[in-house]
Amino acid sequence: MTIHIGAKPDQIAETVLMPGDPYRAKWAAETFLKDVELVNEVRGMLGFTGTWNGNRVTIQGSGMGMPSLSIYANELLKDYGAKTLIRIGSCGAMQPYVGIRDVIIAMTSSTLSTPSLGFFKELNYAPCADWSLLRAAVNAAEAKGTKTHVGGIYSADVFYDERPDLNEQMMRHGILGVEMEAAELYTLAARFNARALAVLTVSDHLITGEALPSEDRERSFGEMVEIALEAAFT
Ligand code: ADE
Repeated sequence: MTIHIGAKPDQIAETVLMPGDPYRAKWAAETFLKDVELVNEVRGMLGFTGTWNGNRVTIQGSGMGMPSLSIYANELLKDYGAKTLIRIGSCGAMQPYVGIRDVIIAMTSSTLSTPSLGFFKELNYAPCADWSLLRAAVNAAEAKGTKTHVGGIYSADVFYDERPDLNEQMMRHGILGVEMEAAELYTLAARFNARALAVLTVSDHLITGEALPSEDRERSFGEMVEIALEAAFT
């Protein structure tokens, strides 16, 4: 047990999928895994372990934002020995050619700051996805025919950002979408010699103002979960 995860050491798998929303962790575990066991409910941040095609997987909520994700990712990597962490979550599109429900696979993520900023001092560290996971996820998405974009994203600290100039510069520099966790996930995985990737479903559009109706979310998010599982075990 750690401060924030109540699981016994052997109840967490080496491969962990991390949605922001603990209820999405429950839905994904019940929908895609077999022999599912609830392994964490500290602070309601639900975690489940089960099997997918015979492989052990944990699906653990991360909460929203990099400070929250940092707590769970640190404990999974340092205390439970997790080796592969894949964020599955939503993002806002930042390019006109990226549509609602499309999948974005993040090669890298730009930030203003992360909980790791103090490590790097004047260096602008570039958090980077694991190549083997990235390649496997792209192959899985192509095989499914999912409309997928691969490139840089932006991990924001603020959901209700009132600086339109910053978003404009992100868009101008080709950033595909905005979410709030991936940069710290990639940084921590690099620090602890593990693999990380973010597979994201576009839930809203910063240019058009469109948003995914809640009843459509499950089906769209399902493809993202399958891509993440296939990537993890390729
Ligand atoms: N996650 C989903 N949509 C988002 C947005 N527009 N900004 C930040 N995080 C998000």
